[in-house]
Amino acid sequence: MIALNRRNLLTGLAAGLAAPLLDSGLCWAAKAAESSADRGLAAIAGEKGITFGAAMTVHELTSAYRALYAREVRLITPGNELKLAAIRPRQGAPRYGGADRLISFAEEHEMLVHGHVLIWNEWLPDWIKNLSSESIARLLDYHVGQVVERYHGRVHSWDVVNEPIGTDRSPDKWLYPGPFLSALGEGYIDRAFRRAREADPDAVLVLNETHTERGDSFGRMYRRRLLRLVDRLQQDGVPLDAIGLQGHLDLSARFDPDGFLAFLEQIAARGLSIQITELDVDDRRVRADVETRDHKAAERLYTFLSTALSCPSVNVVVAWQIDDASHYYTWLARRDDPQGRRPLPRPALFDHQLAKKPAWFAVARAFSEAVPRP
Ligand code: G3I
Repeated sequence: MIALNRRNLLTGLAAGLAAPLLDSGLCWAAKAAESSADRGLAAIAGEKGITFGAAMTVHELTSAYRALYAREVRLITPGNELKLAAIRPRQGAPRYGGADRLISFAEEHEMLVHGHVLIWNEWLPDWIKNLSSESIARLLDYHVGQVVERYHGRVHSWDVVNEPIGTDRSPDKWLYPGPFLSALGEGYIDRAFRRAREADPDAVLVLNETHTERGDSFGRMYRRRLLRLVDRLQQDGVPLDAIGLQGHLDLSARFDPDGFLAFLEQIAARGLSIQITELDVDDRRVRADVETRDHKAAERLYTFLSTALSCPSVNVVVAWQIDDASHYYTWLARRDDPQGRRPLPRPALFDHQLAKKPAWFAVARAFSEAVPRP
């Protein structure tokens, strides 16, 4: 087995040697035989002081999934059930049923819970869009306070604000638009973090963002904007503990290990820990057979995760749904391709039959090669 440290990994990748390096180090299938069959990823990551988790929704509270999650993860992120739209589809009595069931499942298995998400300018019920600025401010305080207090001591960490960075390239639109930004300006972010800290002083407070793992100009724009926001929040004394980088990897986008690692080190230098919060691989634009697609996905996962884990501040890794048959992916496939002309996406670590894919072994290898966390 080739020993990979940060230097030879990055040197190899920069020289375009990723594929030979991986092929000589292992064939993903052979790795299956070599690995101890019954150890889940939680145990492999845990040996290095890394917490491995996965998003789970109420659709996965079946016996087969319960057993799979119990073996593989040490943390769950409720995929949709803690979102504002799920808790408050209408004004009035909140609905906590889905979140309660998932959190109870986690507690039965002594897992941590990552709360996703308190404030996000997307996926909001329509009634919020008609509120005045004053009412939006009151709602933000009330919602964050009520949800965090309800799960005080049961939810270990919170995505306090999700995806604050704007997709629009014009500099004056650097933040993502929506009711909270319109009503309160950039200060909605500060306000949400301060309220969350008041409601649970011990919870880890996370700012969660997407696209920073892309090596193109779009991804680099996201990195610059996120660092700018973090600097401003820290200057103003906003209680921020960690940065969540989603890790929705896209095989049709370039990944730049050097640039990404430099970005991670810039976050670490600001005294923040880093979580990979929504890891999966979009293979929908790869025109190839299943075996080739799975191999490419595994390579990208390994390259990405090895790079990320070479920064010691990365201490949590969460997969976004555990298998290709999850409700989210099948729903996405149907929405994007109602006639079923394209192959089903294979973004996850387990396949439609809940069998391990090459992606699982890629992640296991990245964990087993990681430097132990302090
Ligand atoms: O299941 C129903 C389906 O029966 C119905 O026909 C259809 C009609 O719209 O809706 C389906 O539900 C959808 C659900 O996903 C299925 O899992 C919802 O509309 C859809 O809004 C919902 O999307 C979720 C999305 O966030 C928006 O909240 C996804 O499940 C969820 O995986 C996704 O997660 C986001 C993170 O929160 C933030 N980062 C990106 C990530 C992936 O997009």
